[in-house]
Amino acid sequence: MQRTWKDIFKDYNTQQPIFKNKDALSDRYVPETVCHRDEQMKHVAKIIAPAIKGDKPSNVFVYGNTGTGKSLILVYITNEMARNTDKARVLYVNCKMKRVSDTEYRLLAELARQLGRDLPATGLPTVEVYKTFIEALEAEGKTVILILDEIDSLVKKTGDGILYNLTRLDQDLSKSKISLIGISNDTSFADGLDPRVKSSLSEEEIIFPPYNAAQLQDILLQRALLAFNDGVLGEGVIAKCAALAAQEHGDARKALALLRIAGELAERENLLGITTADVDSAEDKLDLDRVVEVVKAQPKQSQAVLAAAIRLSESGQKNIQTGDVFSVYEDVCKSSGIKMLTQRRISDLIAELDMLGIINSRVISKGRYGRTREIRILLGKNVLDKIKASLKDSYLLG
Ligand SMILES: Nc1ncnc2c1ncn2[C@@H]1O[C@H](COP(=O)(O)OP(=O)(O)OP(=O)(O)O)[C@@H](O)[C@H]1O
Ligand SMILES: [Mg+2]
Repeated sequence: MQRTWKDIFKDYNTQQPIFKNKDALSDRYVPETVCHRDEQMKHVAKIIAPAIKGDKPSNVFVYGNTGTGKSLILVYITNEMARNTDKARVLYVNCKMKRVSDTEYRLLAELARQLGRDLPATGLPTVEVYKTFIEALEAEGKTVILILDEIDSLVKKTGDGILYNLTRLDQDLSKSKISLIGISNDTSFADGLDPRVKSSLSEEEIIFPPYNAAQLQDILLQRALLAFNDGVLGEGVIAKCAALAAQEHGDARKALALLRIAGELAERENLLGITTADVDSAEDKLDLDRVVEVVKAQPKQSQAVLAAAIRLSESGQKNIQTGDVFSVYEDVCKSSGIKMLTQRRISDLIAELDMLGIINSRVISKGRYGRTREIRILLGKNVLDKIKASLKDSYLLG
């Protein structure tokens, strides 16, 4: 009998040959043990220990590449600390979250909410919100450790005035104290801050270095034991995920994602085990997703330039130059109703797309006619198809 889509669901429910618990590989999962971060954990512990007695720890600025365990470890240790005392309390905000930290108002309202005060989502004067937050802090009568994760994104959205205010809140508190922990994966972030904010935020600094391949293997192994059924992992799979992630920036999140996607691909193909070939496919898929996301995040004008370059390249034209892209770009603007920029600006946008690795452009000299760029599209067929679909959705490609 012909199998139907219902059988696919049924199979999925009854036999799960690959995963025992896929959640163990997800971003949300909090591992029970953390390896290879002893030094950083001791450093954090030393800094925040005074909070156990209700004293005020120094403010800390924590930085390091993406996926180096910053969020995991700071949340883990501060919670452990708070469990051992009734004199301290931890507040955590991920500043990348929309609607939580888009404005100073929203962030303060969120913090007040965590302390049990309800504030309307908008409408009050900011001073009023500060007042409520300070009252709520005072009512705690504790040392409050405030973790601002992805703090760079807060400053990008609201400026650093809020950090100035937060680092000076202590002046308004008598029964409570507040210390800040700022976390960022943008290493140059602190340099852009008002010097006063910078020096009070980084009374202490902790750096999280990238993991090497061996460390990533340990992290993966620990999770793989929970996530996969016995005997599913083929030889070299973990080593390959670790090596690929170490090559880039020692990113544990990427290593875990590779392993998870490799498992999903094997599962979808109804295979009984995962091989290193699945890891290769997983990497392709991750790269593809990344490039497509980058393109989607570009301003409309850049997307129009890219659409023009793609149109030219698909028409088979060789030696595509800035001027060629510009004339097709004019068409794209006309047909999609967007404002036209000058050729000079288009040349800049081409350079930006080049930096993002989406196209390749080589500056060539045309003697006394000046310089131009020769443009090639670098994308593989799968990525290109997805990008074209996205450009079509925004009416930039016909
Ligand atoms: N030492 C470790 N042991 C076990 N798991 C780890 C370790 N370090 C990181 N991980 C896991 O790797 C993933 C990424 O870690 P985390 O979110 O802490 O990175 P991050 O440094 O905060 O990155 P970002 O800057 O992008 O926010 C999480 O799933 C986390 O559980
Ligand atoms: Mg993080």
